[in-house]
Amino acid sequence: MNIIETTNYSTLSEKAAILIFNQIKSNPRLVLGAATGDTPKGTYEQLVNRVKREGLNLSNINTVNLDEYVGLNAIHPQSYWNYMQENLYTPLNLSKDQAFIPDGTAVDLEDECDKYEQRIERIGGIDLQILGIGRNGHIGFNEPFTSFSSRTHIVTLTESTRKANARFFSNIKEVPTRAITMGISTIMKSKSIVLLASGEGKAAAVDKLLSGKVDPAWPATILNEHPNVTLIVDNAAKNR
Ligand code: PGA
Repeated sequence: MNIIETTNYSTLSEKAAILIFNQIKSNPRLVLGAATGDTPKGTYEQLVNRVKREGLNLSNINTVNLDEYVGLNAIHPQSYWNYMQENLYTPLNLSKDQAFIPDGTAVDLEDECDKYEQRIERIGGIDLQILGIGRNGHIGFNEPFTSFSSRTHIVTLTESTRKANARFFSNIKEVPTRAITMGISTIMKSKSIVLLASGEGKAAAVDKLLSGKVDPAWPATILNEHPNVTLIVDNAAKNR
């Protein structure tokens, strides 16, 4: 695993943005796996600024998102579709044909999961997957003890994840109880992975990852078995 240590969140975001920018530059048909949450916001902001400043042909890239809440339609303010529109698609002028997110309102959710896997395959697989990490070590919405062989699937969110995400809703009751997420094997098939970890709340999960041991209780530890992972971590999230 490559490890890039930064002193703060802003530098972490800059390093990640440069990495994404350079990868698109060398592969204009890049398939970018995108994550939501607080952590990648700075990365997207800096990527957008860099693209505006230096120019970059984005017309042939595709993005696929890790996950989406079940039951929130695209225009719901807390849907991940809406997050991506605000933070990436609109500022980068990406078209709807370039942006894929699971449909959390699909009538047949199992079918939506299968279709999502097929969509990823059809566009050639993920070249660069951006990941955040949960305090409990989750990646995407793959909570502790999710099978490492899981494909895109429906998950019941743990109380700790719902509590962590309640800050985006007016109260915890509004936080959906389920989500569609890429599975761990879907993520592991990505050609390269960049994991972003910022703040002391992530230190325990980062510590488990850096122990080098794969432990189903801490899903991110499976990344130790991936050949091309870069961890970009700020001081607060790293105590090892
Ligand atoms: P955060 O979420 O970036 O909002 O901390 C990360 C995650 O839960 O995967």
